[in-house]
Amino acid sequence: MKIAVLASGGGSNLQALLDARAAGQLGPTEIQVVAVNIAGCGALERAEKAGVPTIVLPHRNFAKREDFDLALGDALCARDVDCLVLAGFMRIVGASFLDRFSRGVINVHPALLPAFTGVNGQGQAFDYGVKVAGCTVHFVDGGVDTGPIIAQAVVPVADSDTSESLRLRILKQEHRLLPAVVRAHAEGRIERHGRRVSVSGGLGLAASADPVLINPT
Ligand code: GRF
Repeated sequence: MKIAVLASGGGSNLQALLDARAAGQLGPTEIQVVAVNIAGCGALERAEKAGVPTIVLPHRNFAKREDFDLALGDALCARDVDCLVLAGFMRIVGASFLDRFSRGVINVHPALLPAFTGVNGQGQAFDYGVKVAGCTVHFVDGGVDTGPIIAQAVVPVADSDTSESLRLRILKQEHRLLPAVVRAHAEGRIERHGRRVSVSGGLGLAASADPVLINPT
């Protein structure tokens, strides 16, 4: 499976993918390119350091979202990419963009969907007062964080938590979940039946020192 990783920020999820690749834990996945929409973002630095080709395409250079989607899609298709991984990519992309990638588009979201969609899902959950938070890896459809769910990790919220401490504990689980899902997808173990998604053989994430619940394990 030939993936592109799309990011806008610090790139810690990209780093988790790069580290998994270096450790031989991404299965038959090739990271063809990393694309960012923010010049100089941390993700770009991480990709360059790892020697992965990059695309820098500032969305601000485009008057319309459709024009940005088209230019980005063209640049990614030129790299022979068949699956996209959105790892902190803070742009909404349209359905015609998504259709260009035969093995789909995967996103990691820092909340237990379908609750707390959009930006700052962890902060929204914390402010709401939830007792369990977490993260979701899902296929992307035309909506905002509405696509079929592949896997989720549940992170308990402690009374002593701050929004920041919770964000960091969720992020740690994102770093486990996302590479494991990418591997399973590359190995052809993810099946979609409408909204229901199954991962045959699981994700291999049963053992953890943290009090988290991951489904599927
Ligand atoms: C992650 O929490 C991701 O779920 C959210 O934005 C954050 C990106 O972090 N969409 P990073 O850039 O991977 O460090």
